[in-house]
Amino acid sequence: MSPFARIREDILAARTHDPAARGAVEVFLVYSGLHAVWWYRLAHALWRRGLRFLPRAISQLTRFFTGIEIHPGARIGRRLFIDHGMGVVIGETAVLGDDVHLYHQVTLGGTGHARGKRHPTIGDRVIVGAGAKVLGDIELGHDCAVGSNAVVVHSAPPWSTLVGIPAEARPRRGAPLAAAAPSGEGIPEQPDQADFYMI
Ligand SMILES: CC(C)(COP(=O)(O)OP(=O)(O)OC[C@H]1O[C@@H](n2cnc3c(N)ncnc32)[C@H](O)[C@@H]1OP(=O)(O)O)[C@@H](O)C(=O)NCCC(=O)NCCS
Repeated sequence: MSPFARIREDILAARTHDPAARGAVEVFLVYSGLHAVWWYRLAHALWRRGLRFLPRAISQLTRFFTGIEIHPGARIGRRLFIDHGMGVVIGETAVLGDDVHLYHQVTLGGTGHARGKRHPTIGDRVIVGAGAKVLGDIELGHDCAVGSNAVVVHSAPPWSTLVGIPAEARPRRGAPLAAAAPSGEGIPEQPDQADFYMI
């Protein structure tokens, strides 16, 4: 998929998620959540080619302009929408599926100074409310909803709602019956690289 097609679907996703979005041109020009994702894609492509300083510099410059810090090593699916954006941090080993929706002040971070995979893996269509922290090498299944200001430190099956500190998982309202069964299925797989790394 060409970078322009990706931008087009990002704009469409923003207009779908945000009732305040009025037109494609406005979204393209003023949605800093999208700007951060687009610069991340460039930084990530460079990161994958083995560069280190330049991608980090792009990431920090993007943070300066948008308030959103996405480590170039993070692996992010299609149509990520970061609403409002200010204060969002996505760590180096975080993995996000498709159609993830993050609000401002969300941290997808580590819990300490561990090395290796230390940030969360987030399934498709997960929504993470404003101020929520999702910490450590944990996995949130597809279609989970994390309440605003929750602190999530344990994995959760698909279609869970997670609220509170520490967050407790409960079946999400409207979950399909199959998802409510505690089968452990639906924990996100590692994303398909072909989908994830193109800019
Ligand atoms: C969690 C959320 C996604 C709703 O998910 P849901 O699956 O529809 O959950 P429900 O509305 O059924 O709520 C489930 C329970 O969690 C509680 N709850 C919901 N959000 C909560 C939160 N942020 N903190 C604590 N409890 C919360 C509800 O009161 C309800 O409790 P009850 O069953 O005892 O009545 C939503 O409440 C939320 O926090 N969204 C983020 C919105 C946001 O950040 N907006 C910023 C706009 S600028």
